[in-house]
Amino acid sequence: MNYENVIVAKDGAIAVVTLNRPQALNALSYGLVKDLSLAMQELDQDAEVRVIVVTGGDKVFAAGADIKEMADKGPFDPLILERLAYRDKINKISKPVVAAVIGFALGGGCELAMSCDIIVAAENARFGQPEVNLGIIPGSGGTQRLTHLLGKHRAMELVLTGDMLNANDAERLGLVNRVVPAELCLEEAVNIARKIAAKPQLAVRAAKEAVLKSANTGLDEGLEFERKAFYLLFASEDRSEGMQAFLEKRKAEFKGK
Ligand code: CAA
Repeated sequence: MNYENVIVAKDGAIAVVTLNRPQALNALSYGLVKDLSLAMQELDQDAEVRVIVVTGGDKVFAAGADIKEMADKGPFDPLILERLAYRDKINKISKPVVAAVIGFALGGGCELAMSCDIIVAAENARFGQPEVNLGIIPGSGGTQRLTHLLGKHRAMELVLTGDMLNANDAERLGLVNRVVPAELCLEEAVNIARKIAAKPQLAVRAAKEAVLKSANTGLDEGLEFERKAFYLLFASEDRSEGMQAFLEKRKAEFKGK
């Protein structure tokens, strides 16, 4: 797996994808979004990998879409359209994705963090949607996900003012799972990933799908989906093993079947 703009490191069931444009604060250029999207799709298909961790390295998560690249583009420029198409595929990754956010996560960077399933933030993390300062609005889910996560009034304030949230406020408001010192951020994300990787994978996949469903459907439809997924898991070997192991007071040995 060789990509120009991301570094992929696999360690057993965990893959860490690091955005790698430090000179531009990991601004999400066409090339970076394409590489990130293709790398994550490849990992999603990789039978060895169970959980993906996304990080921007030890200085910055991502300062948003690449403004230099966008500045002279029209709305139908292939670069804008294709970039968004690659970006949308990141939302469709079926394996759990944990974000380790150190430093700025702004604009498309904040949206990328929010499209991950769990966010570990460093104490110096800053989240925001400053697009309004550029005469645009968030284009990869910011207005929708922030509103879903924080409620209308807080989302509105962030999107209309472009102000940033610090890590502690982000945790208090439910935007991130936890805040840790920067030097422990990736380690903590990997620890969470390992914990998930040890679980029965069919149940993990169904659980992710069911939780995401709640954001995209009404309650009745979401409950219906959950019930069907719940029934379906009774057909899995890992379900029998998990329950049997509990009854026999031993550790379960899951096979992903
Ligand atoms: N695009 C392109 N280049 C960027 C960038 C971006 N989003 N953010 C930073 N850079 C570049 C800077 O131009 C600079 O490059 P040069 O050295 O070549 O001038 C380098 O990264 C370092 O940046 P700064 O000197 O500005 O660093 P700073 O520490 O003083 O400030 C910052 C950091 C507050 C993040 C500031 O860089 C900033 O405000 N960046 C823009 C943030 C932004 O507006 N993001 C939203 C983009 S639009 C978007 O994301 C739309 C969407 O949803 C699709």
